[in-house]
Amino acid sequence: MEFIMTRDGSKTLFNEQIGECYHSKHGAVQESKHVFIKMGLDHFFHQYDQDEIAILEIGFGTGLNFIQTLAYTNDQKIQIDYLGIEGFPLSLETVQKTGYDDFISRDNWNDYISNYQQAFKEDTSINAKVKLHIDHTLLMDFDSDKRFDIVYFDAFATIHQPEMWSDEALAHVAKFMKSGAVFVTYAITGNLKRSMKALGFQIEKVPGAPGKREMLRATKI
Ligand SMILES: C[S@@+](CC[C@H](N)C(=O)[O-])C[C@H]1O[C@@H](n2cnc3c(N)ncnc32)[C@H](O)[C@@H]1O
Repeated sequence: MEFIMTRDGSKTLFNEQIGECYHSKHGAVQESKHVFIKMGLDHFFHQYDQDEIAILEIGFGTGLNFIQTLAYTNDQKIQIDYLGIEGFPLSLETVQKTGYDDFISRDNWNDYISNYQQAFKEDTSINAKVKLHIDHTLLMDFDSDKRFDIVYFDAFATIHQPEMWSDEALAHVAKFMKSGAVFVTYAITGNLKRSMKALGFQIEKVPGAPGKREMLRATKI
């Protein structure tokens, strides 16, 4: 896989088989901070004033959304239990080549990199506030007794991987969410809104990351 520079100066990976990048070409770091941190984590934290938050990410990839989450905890009294689902894990070497260390503190980066491989084996403390487990599994094979407060849904776009956005896949994700939990993703389509409404979610169209007018935030009733 080849790295491509995005417009905010952060890199993304291009997946030749799928024909798509892992992040927005308008800015990988910018997209992650907007869609998942601002519209997801920060929204949830202020809405519920809850200081222990369980996050489920679909499509862990490079871990960019995880390290932005880690950076968010530096200034907050908060504990995060993070589970990333990834069907096709990247090597540590590839993750180290992302250059994402330029966008977070040295401590955050070292904590992530030194625990990346262990996190595939078990729940791993990244620091005093954050635990990470990366489950090497396909979404539809994923199972867990845990229930989550926030879902970061970061699958490849529906034109490239429609099965990830099917009613069946979304219903599978919804099963692992607590009542009141928040689902965020970078996209919004008529089908996605209909599916999420049918699953009992309250839908919000919120401003998207640069390059996208709107994105979806959905709250499980
Ligand atoms: C848009 S990229 C996510 C980027 C990632 N969040 C990051 O920050 O690097 C989509 C991710 O979903 C993974 N993926 C694709 N199909 C999957 C499946 N069926 N189950 C689990 N993960 C899958 C890909 O390998 C890729 O890492």
